[in-house]
Formats: sequence, structure tokens, C-alpha cells
Amino acid sequence: MKVTVVGAGNVGATCADAIARWELSNEVVLLDIKEGFAEGKALDIWQTSPINLFDTRPVGSTNDYGKTAGSDVVVITSGLPRKPGMSRDDLIATNAAIVKSVTENVVKASPEAIIIVVSNPLDVMTYCAYLTSKFPSQRVFGMAGILDTARYRAFLAEELNVSPKDIQAVLMGGHGDTMVPLPRYTTVGGIPVTELISEEKLNAIVERTKKGGGEIVNLLGTSAWYAPGTAAAQMVEAIVRDQKRVFPVCAWLEGQYGLKDIYLGVPVVLGRQGIERIIELQLNDEEKALLQDSAKAVREVMDVLDKMNKGVTA
Ligand code: NAI
Ligand code: 2OP
Repeated sequence: MKVTVVGAGNVGATCADAIARWELSNEVVLLDIKEGFAEGKALDIWQTSPINLFDTRPVGSTNDYGKTAGSDVVVITSGLPRKPGMSRDDLIATNAAIVKSVTENVVKASPEAIIIVVSNPLDVMTYCAYLTSKFPSQRVFGMAGILDTARYRAFLAEELNVSPKDIQAVLMGGHGDTMVPLPRYTTVGGIPVTELISEEKLNAIVERTKKGGGEIVNLLGTSAWYAPGTAAAQMVEAIVRDQKRVFPVCAWLEGQYGLKDIYLGVPVVLGRQGIERIIELQLNDEEKALLQDSAKAVREVMDVLDKMNKGVTA
């Protein structure tokens, strides 16, 4: 197995580190445009191998896609992160150009790869990689839901003073303030969360989750990386180990949930073929309305990308 991570910045390096620690592939290639940057990160990660006890070889590359050739999975994290006051959508023009050129190179070097997009604005950058790669949508999807549910689960674990391991949750929609955490599908050791927490506290946690990315941007001056990088590595694990894990993933919808031709977060089964199945939950009217609102917000940014691609100024 060979995995490439494009972008050796905060998220990319964290993802490569987890891939190496968990021995998900023989080789993990880190690629960046900054001269020597990916090589330096790869060397640093390799020097943890006697401590963390792994054999996976990190390889650094300054924009040489030859080193990535034949990758089974490629994670795209290249692009600008958010600064305080910026929304994820503010990044669209810059990051679309980066994701497009990176995807073109990935397709040439690794025509059979599965592509996981992390760059923001996530849903639309995933759409950009899909349009550029012309790969089947089963092999092009985005990471956001695992991160957003991890935040939700961590907040719940803290509030309930229980292990985060015992909290299971589903979250749908776009990776933005319109995301849709689903308390009705949240359990603590199999017990519906609504039996353990007041509605008021649960609502506060849902709202904090929706703004979870911004909370970290305000604290750090840039966006998060430990949870995002590790979440992307968990998707790589599900694929290379053919685990058939059920995760919320940004996937191309073709009629599911009444939505068509849109990338949006939904529960899927993830395995060696990529997205092996999209799971359709029976949402109630309120949940359906929230999902539609989220889809509308994502569609507006997809339209900006479509207009940019046609050379029309938005
Ligand atoms: P960073 O600035 O630390 O790293 C980005 C790296 O991409 C830099 O090292 C840069 O040199 C590289 N890069 C830029 N253009 C490139 C190109 N054409 N080819 C190869 N490498 C290139 O940023 P960070 O914090 O790692 O974030 C990366 C992206 O991930 C951002 O767009 C951020 O908003 C997004 N993100 C998405 C999350 C999600 O849940 N989907 C969560 C956290 C971040
Ligand atoms: C996050 O949610 C900004 O997308 C990034 O941390």
C-alpha cells in the first residue's frame, strides 16, 4: 500500500504522522511546494519510528509527483487555512486553483487512487477535485464529518463525564455553520443521549459543535490540525484495511435525501473501494429542513466555483 499526503503543513504532517504510527502503508509520501519542507517533515516523522515503533517509511517531495506514483490513496490538504474573521468560504478562489492543479498531477501519477479532500471550503473543494479528476464519485470524497462528530463527541464526553469512546453520533450536511448534528442518533454506551442530558445543555453543545472550527481559529490564529489530520488518517485506515467503517463523509449525492448533484456530509460505508454505500436515515421534518438549509448553503458556494470555471465573475 502506498499513501500520499499533499500539503505538508499542519494538517498534512499530522495526517502523515498518524498514517506512519498506525502502519497503514509501506510508504507515506508527503508532498509540498515549499522547497525542502516536506522532506524535513518526513525526516522528522521517520526519526520517531524507533520511539513509536513503526516501519512505514515517510518520503518527502518538493512538488515531484514522480515520488507519489501509483498511490492507492491520496489525501489533499494543500491550501490556505482560515485566519480569524475569515469563513471557510473566503478561501475559495485561492484554494480552488491549488486543488485543481494538485488533482491534475495526482490523476497523472496515480490514476487508480482514491482521493480524500481536506482543503477548505471542504464540500466545494471536494467538488473541484471530482470535476478535475473525472474519477467516479465513489473514489473522490471529503473529510469533515469525522472531525465535526469528534468535536461533538468530545464536548458531550466532557459534559457527561464519560469516556469519549462510548459516545456514538451522526452528523450531516456541509462543513460549515449549517452542519446538522443529530441528537436523535446520538448514544452513550447505547443509551439515547436525550435521556442523560437536558435539552438546553444538548442544544448548547450542538451550537458549540457548529462553531467548533471557529473556536480554535480564534484561539490559535489559524485552524485546527491534530483532530483534522487524525480524522483524515482514520478514513485512510478504513480504506486500506477495508474496514467497512460507518462514518459521516462528504459524498456526491445522486438523489439520496432528495438531493442531487451536490457534495454533502452523509453517513457512508467506507472500505477498500472507497464509498461502498451511502446510508439513508429516516430523518424527521425538522432534520430534513436543516439538511436542506445546509445543502442550500453548500450549493451557493458550488455555484461560485461553477461560475469561476466558466470565467464568469460572481
Ligand atoms: P498549512 O498552511 O499549515 O499547510 C498547507 C500547506 O499546503 C502548506 O505547507 C503549503 O505550502 C502547501 N501548499 C500550498 N499550495 C500547494 C500546492 N500547489 N501543492 C502542494 N502543496 C501546497 O494549512 P493547514 O492548517 O494544514 O490546512 C490545510 C487546509 O486544510 C486548509 O485549506 C484548511 O482550511 C483545511 N482544513 C480543513 C479541515 C476539514 O475539516 N476539512 C480542518 C482543518 C483544516
Ligand atoms: C475546522 O473545522 C477550519 O475546517 C476547519 O477546524
